[in-house]
Amino acid sequence: MSAPLIAIDGPTASGKGTVAQRVAQALGWGYLDSGALYRLCALAALRGGVDLDDEAGLAALAAALPVRFAGERIELGGQDVTGAIRDEAVGNAASRIAALPALRAALLGLQRGFRRPPGLVADGRDMGTVVFPEATLKVFLTASAESRAKRRYKQLIEKGFSANLADLLRDLQQRDERDTRRSVAPLKPAEGAVVIDSTHLDIDQTVAQVLGAYRHRARP
Ligand code: CDP
Repeated sequence: MSAPLIAIDGPTASGKGTVAQRVAQALGWGYLDSGALYRLCALAALRGGVDLDDEAGLAALAAALPVRFAGERIELGGQDVTGAIRDEAVGNAASRIAALPALRAALLGLQRGFRRPPGLVADGRDMGTVVFPEATLKVFLTASAESRAKRRYKQLIEKGFSANLADLLRDLQQRDERDTRRSVAPLKPAEGAVVIDSTHLDIDQTVAQVLGAYRHRARP
């Protein structure tokens, strides 16, 4: 039997990453930040001069991505890029290239390789719909665009980046639009997903809801 898996999908800045990490910690499981893989591909393309429309070139790059996860630290070709991949320009490029089917296909094996005992919490856009359709629990985590923009603003300022709330809200709405409308692996709740709207929930309350839903699924 394969290891238990919790898939957490949702729009940009919905708090998926923090919630997924906290759930993984509470259960003692591994954690996959699938968005980081799209960000890594985008960064590698930007640095290597690969055009963001060059689907075959990007897929080749993704298939041989020289990535290493060392705890919280992420390395690309031996270089620490943990901070660099969080830049908004990299996030926007990631969202653009994530619409390319060949690139998505090239990242499938890498993502599925993270599923190991005692379990995995994976966050992204298509964890429950495409990558792990047989997940033990699927969660769709959302929140209003305004509250997500405010959260992203706070996060960027805390990390020392400069940010503008109005620009962030506009970029976030564009990204939602692209993620929901693309033909391959569009952002939508997976079949059977538990939908959690965190507009009025803090992190602790959201984590508690996910853990509660998992315990209910595991021992109904
Ligand atoms: O920080 P944010 O939630 O915007 O993005 P992220 O989770 O770091 O992912 C960066 C981009 O990769 C997103 O804007 C998505 O377009 C894309 N992505 C995807 O298509 N599928 C995933 N499983 C994860 C991310």
